[in-house]
Amino acid sequence: MKTELLTVLREAGDYVSGQALCEKFGVSRTAVWKGINQLKEAGYQIEAVPNRGYRFIAAPDILSEEEIKSLRRTEWAGQEIFCFPVLDSTNTRAKQLAEEGYPSGTLVVAEQQNAGRGRRGRNWESPRGTGIFMTLMLRPEIYPDNASMLTLVAALAVSKAITKCTDRPAGIKWPNDIVMNGKKVCGILTEMSAQFDYVDYIVIGIGINVHNESFPEDIAHMATSLYRETGQHIKRAALIEETLEQLEHYYAVYMETQDLRGLVKEYDAHLVNKNQMVRVLDPKEPFEGKAMGITPRGELIVDTWESRRLVSAGEVSVRGVYGYV
Ligand code: BTN
Repeated sequence: MKTELLTVLREAGDYVSGQALCEKFGVSRTAVWKGINQLKEAGYQIEAVPNRGYRFIAAPDILSEEEIKSLRRTEWAGQEIFCFPVLDSTNTRAKQLAEEGYPSGTLVVAEQQNAGRGRRGRNWESPRGTGIFMTLMLRPEIYPDNASMLTLVAALAVSKAITKCTDRPAGIKWPNDIVMNGKKVCGILTEMSAQFDYVDYIVIGIGINVHNESFPEDIAHMATSLYRETGQHIKRAALIEETLEQLEHYYAVYMETQDLRGLVKEYDAHLVNKNQMVRVLDPKEPFEGKAMGITPRGELIVDTWESRRLVSAGEVSVRGVYGYV
């Protein structure tokens, strides 16, 4: 009942009488009172005024199923939610849930990860309470060759969600790092289980630095957090909800054609590398050129002195010639 109580009080935005809550949930006044007390114990501020009822004032920054569900406006993303105080990695847990048969749209969230994973075998710093560590599991009916583009879809969704929640621009460093003022605020790790002609499931792992005040020395020059950029401590559950909503939208556009042709313009508008000199770290033959935007398949278009080259995500990474971006 805690989720439903929260949802009703939040949506009302005003006092709701104890009687109305009893009738709505078909429970006693004592049960309503107990539910309200449990919410208060969890850190919610709820005002109780005799003869008027209860009024929602503020939520704590917690990542519980109730909190995320009571904010939920999505159709399918996050219909099943699993929240953990600690996990090795939300991607690993989401894969297990996929193997156990959970539906597309299942969401895994952790307050802390002991073995958070980044791209290219790197680890992802995931200290308790500092950030968002979440993974969305999908079962898209697409060809495996089209799956890597989903990571760009997710990047677009996160950059849009961050911009909406903070009112500050968040750009994309191709293919899927989210940056603010030239530093990385979010990384995305997409993994897939597929047969040669169909996708079994995909997990999209998203790590957002939210409240971090500082970073370990080795990454301090290129990492930032929403707090460092905005001076605000934004509520993580609200950002998760916004990200899921944006993902539903961009995913639908992607699914119409199973590529990015409907999203190229918007992605390029967020691309911080656009018109910048980049170094393509191709293990066989690194090269430099000017990044021009992406193709409908998500490749980065790089103009060198000699020719135009298309760079595929997954094969190589890209750095700015003069720094991280
Ligand atoms: C990167 O290297 O930029 C990708 C980082 C992805 C980190 C997220 S945190 C949630 C999810 N679980 C993981 O173990 N990794 C991803």
